[in-house]
Amino acid sequence: MRVRCCRPIDGCPARIQPSPCLPLPYRFFPSWHFLRLVACNDSVYSFVQYLFSQLRVDGKPPSSLWRRTVIIGIIGVGHLAASILSGLVGAGVDPADILLSPRGQAHALSARWGIPLAADNDDLVNRADIVLLSVRPVDAHTAAADLPWRPGQTLVSFCAGVTISRLEAGPARVMRAMPLTSAAINASPTVCFPATGPAIAVLEKLGPVIPLGSEEEFEVATVNAAVYGWAQDLIRQSANWATARGGDAMAMRKLAALTFVAAGRLIAETDKPMETLIGELVTPGGITELGLGVLAREGQPQAWQAACDAVLQRLSGRVPA
Ligand SMILES: NC(=O)c1ccc[n+]([C@@H]2O[C@H](COP(=O)([O-])OP(=O)(O)OC[C@H]3O[C@@H](n4cnc5c(N)ncnc54)[C@H](OP(=O)(O)O)[C@@H]3O)[C@@H](O)[C@H]2O)c1
Repeated sequence: MRVRCCRPIDGCPARIQPSPCLPLPYRFFPSWHFLRLVACNDSVYSFVQYLFSQLRVDGKPPSSLWRRTVIIGIIGVGHLAASILSGLVGAGVDPADILLSPRGQAHALSARWGIPLAADNDDLVNRADIVLLSVRPVDAHTAAADLPWRPGQTLVSFCAGVTISRLEAGPARVMRAMPLTSAAINASPTVCFPATGPAIAVLEKLGPVIPLGSEEEFEVATVNAAVYGWAQDLIRQSANWATARGGDAMAMRKLAALTFVAAGRLIAETDKPMETLIGELVTPGGITELGLGVLAREGQPQAWQAACDAVLQRLSGRVPA
């Protein structure tokens, strides 16, 4: 069979260049040439893309007709779940794709966001694809047990200190994750283990996701949920100290909070060793050095590390595997 060799088209984006050799029938297929012309003209291509993006069937994009919606169920609708919901809706998740277990703040949050309520946890697990478990650690085992879990589902537990072996979810995958309440503004760095695809996509709506390699590593990282609170307390202390000495309360609050954001972002967004970054700040005889000296005399960093150790001990010992 003879084949026709097509030359690459100048200016045509690489993703739509035809394969170099086409079977004979394509030589006589005029619409192929038309499509090549359309596709290789950037403005016509963008215009056709735009037309497709505007297509609506029953008010929804046509892709929704063939894309099956992932239903996110939440068991344990308390403080953390309220932040998670705010983040999910803020990230554009359709409230109709979320399902709440009918306890805690569920009725109020359902009314606020227009999120459906499940009849009970059985109903929720029957209907949801990804189930977020956000009950208190002591309730975690009972809340997950004896529900109609099925293969292909993922249970994501936010329950601090509750190991995977304590969570009975039948054939469903079990993943642990530790979001922060900053999920409400899509700014939660969330550690998880083990990383399972569809659930990661849900967590990514709440902020950057950091998958970890083992449950032991995850447990150590969970201490960070307490560090988050201590950081907020340091911000509060700094703002209150400055306000008590005449600073405007709102200005001092904003300054202290954004200083912590700045410090965190600089470390997160560069590869420089942290020692180098801090070393660059500590000018001999300067104010940073002065303050670090006072903190060292008052028990830093031992005090901070002792607090981290205490939390890890509590997490590891709270619910034995
Ligand atoms: N708060 C945080 O910032 C944070 C951060 C990271 C992780 N976590 C973890 O998230 C979990 C929840 O924390 P939280 O502060 O949100 O607690 P919370 O405010 O006490 O909320 C827990 C909710 O779970 C409900 N619940 C208990 N058993 C249930 C069951 N069998 N079925 C359905 N709902 C049930 C409770 O309802 P009732 O009120 O009716 O009992 C309550 O509304 C904890 O395990 C914690 O370790 C929390």
